[in-house]
Amino acid sequence: MLKNTETSYGIVARAFHWLLFLMFGFMIVAGNLLADMPKGMEKIEAAGVHKSLGLLVLASVLLRLVWRLINVTPKDPEGTPAIQSLIAHVMHWLLYVLMFAQPLVGILMSQAAGYPVSFFGLYELPALLDKDPSLAELFHGAHGIVWILLLLVVIVHAGGALYHHFVMKDDVLRRMGFGMNT
Ligand code: HEM
Ligand code: HEM
Repeated sequence: MLKNTETSYGIVARAFHWLLFLMFGFMIVAGNLLADMPKGMEKIEAAGVHKSLGLLVLASVLLRLVWRLINVTPKDPEGTPAIQSLIAHVMHWLLYVLMFAQPLVGILMSQAAGYPVSFFGLYELPALLDKDPSLAELFHGAHGIVWILLLLVVIVHAGGALYHHFVMKDDVLRRMGFGMNT
């Protein structure tokens, strides 16, 4: 089933979930390697790839959000305490906010530092702001913090999913997975 139902996520939502899980994992590791590189041509080239892939991630997050908004969202298992439901849903929206924030802050950081942002040299993004070194510094700091916030929220989020699976023994993890009984 491509679309979500009242009780389970469809293939598209599952594919988005795990694709973005991989993309963010890769980008976080690659970003840290990039930040540690000495200044020079090699770093500029590596940054070009990081920025292009970052734009691809941003587009994927946008498509995922659209898909979420035009679909039903599976209901929480019956009997879930209201407070637990609330925490889970706040986490989901926080994850969306952070998934948007990291690449957007990256774009603003590069443009404020006076560097262009292009998608593999095929298309250059219009400048959203003028060159401004103090703003660039601010966004640079934010680009180094948002991914840490994302990791922290993901730990709680994944912990919740594992709690459902192993303690509550319900199908919350299975309905986002690709295994049997889905
Ligand atoms: C989802 C997407 C992205 C993720 C997860 C991500 C992650 C990271 C991380 C973890 C770092 C190292 C941060 C640090 O320690 O200072 C980094 C560095 C960097 N990112 Fe991203 N990034 C993303 C998208 C972007 C985008 C869209 C741009 C620009 C258009 C960008 C530009 C940069 C640059 C230029 C650096 C190097 C900064 C330095 O040399 O200190 N990133 N990224
Ligand atoms: C080991 C890591 C992870 C596990 C086990 C996991 C598990 C799950 C499960 C079981 C759901 C469905 C919850 C429900 O049915 O109410 C879900 C939803 C969600 N997950 Fe994860 N997840 C993980 C990592 C991530 C990461 C890295 C992100 C973001 C970068 C993320 C973002 C989301 C979002 C936004 C939703 C809500 C989906 C929607 O309704 O649109 N997850 N996750």
